[in-house]
Amino acid sequence: MYSFKFPRLLLCLWLITLLSLTSSTESAPTYSAHYCVNTTLFTANSTYQTNLNLVLASLTSNSTDNSGFQNASAGGNTPDEDVVSGLFLCRGDVNTTVCQDCVTTARQDLLRRCPLNKVAIIWYDVCLLRFSNQSIFATINEVPGFDLPGSQNITEAESDRFDDVLASAMNSLATKASNSNSGKKFATEEDEVTSSKKLYSLGQCTPDLTVSDCYRCFRSAIGDLPTCCTGKQGAAVVLPSCNIRYEVYPFYNITSASPILPPLAPPVELRDGPVSIFCY
Ligand SMILES: *[C@@H]1O[C@H](CO)[C@@H](O)[C@H](O)[C@H]1NC(C)=O
Ligand SMILES: *[C@@H]1O[C@H](CO)[C@@H](O)[C@H](O)[C@H]1NC(C)=O
Ligand SMILES: *[C@@H]1O[C@H](CO)[C@@H](O)[C@H](O)[C@H]1NC(C)=O
Ligand SMILES: *[C@@H]1O[C@H](CO)[C@@H](O)[C@H](O)[C@H]1NC(C)=O
Ligand SMILES: *[C@@H]1O[C@H](CO)[C@@H](O)[C@H](O)[C@H]1NC(C)=O
Ligand SMILES: *[C@@H]1O[C@H](CO)[C@@H](O)[C@H](O)[C@H]1NC(C)=O
Ligand SMILES: *[C@@H]1O[C@H](CO)[C@@H](O)[C@H](O)[C@H]1NC(C)=O
Ligand SMILES: *[C@@H]1O[C@H](CO)[C@@H](O)[C@H](O)[C@H]1NC(C)=O
Repeated sequence: MYSFKFPRLLLCLWLITLLSLTSSTESAPTYSAHYCVNTTLFTANSTYQTNLNLVLASLTSNSTDNSGFQNASAGGNTPDEDVVSGLFLCRGDVNTTVCQDCVTTARQDLLRRCPLNKVAIIWYDVCLLRFSNQSIFATINEVPGFDLPGSQNITEAESDRFDDVLASAMNSLATKASNSNSGKKFATEEDEVTSSKKLYSLGQCTPDLTVSDCYRCFRSAIGDLPTCCTGKQGAAVVLPSCNIRYEVYPFYNITSASPILPPLAPPVELRDGPVSIFCY
């Protein structure tokens, strides 16, 4: 019942011109992508709008809890009244302040971009925010999503080694993050490609998923890599329920992501490129 694989194949040709996932968490959060479901709209000043505002207000006011995840719902008081469900997820390595800032920015931005949509989602580099008139809590969603291949290629000479290290890092992340009992379904990996090159990777599910749904979502995200991102030194696949990313530089806060003492943070790297959004 949870198979959304077919719609994933119908790639929607909606391109956004800029997407940057930066390693900076000190400045304002960076917009990545959004999706408004244009087939289900509400009317201005309706009960839906009131309930949506309640949900978003509750999510933004409650993001002080440090799990980096929150859900809320409102409505459903009569058989005709839609339930409005909402949730946010912050990247596992960011603190409450950064999380709250991101969710607050995302809320304003999402309402501006999808003003009358019952169903919408927005991703920033360090958070996602979504709402729907269907229950979205504890439900695996693999669409809509986007791929982001990096601009730098791996060299021919290192490609076999890189692919092996990447494949094993992805498997390890999927297992570690889905089985994590830290309250976040989040994991990072640091693997040596060569003596002078490391692969840094990150995987996260919304923590409301079961271990098996989280693992399944990762398999789906990882399964996109050969199509979008073969030969790249960095890439991300971002879905509503989970995301993965890898780079040859540390793009997350290693100190907060792991208990081991880290090397110094690297310079922020910005990456631009077209993004394809998968449709519902
Ligand atoms: C949260 O993280 C940001 C960015 O790393 C940092 O500037 C800020 O001081 C941190 N806030 C707290 C309360 O730790
Ligand atoms: C939905 O409608 C908005 C506003 O008209 C438009 O900008 C956006 O491209 C549409 N999205 C999709 C996925 O069709
Ligand atoms: C909705 O309410 C706002 C503020 O009360 C008002 O400015 C606006 O005209 C209303 N829109 C509709 C469609 O009723
Ligand atoms: C936070 O959420 C709880 C329900 O989980 C709600 O009762 C409370 O009012 C919210 N806090 C604020 C400040 O809105
Ligand atoms: C939110 O999440 C809790 C579990 O943390 C769940 O029991 C509850 O039903 C959800 N609440 C709403 C309002 O969706
Ligand atoms: C969501 O809204 C659409 C359009 O108004 C409606 O067709 C659909 O039945 C609603 N979904 C739920 C679960 O209520
Ligand atoms: C990477 O490889 C692609 C396809 O093989 C090529 O089009 C592109 O120019 C290369 N990029 C760089 C930065 O070398
Ligand atoms: C990384 O996280 C640690 C521990 O949470 C925090 O003290 C530090 O300020 C963070 N560094 C950056 C660059 O965000």
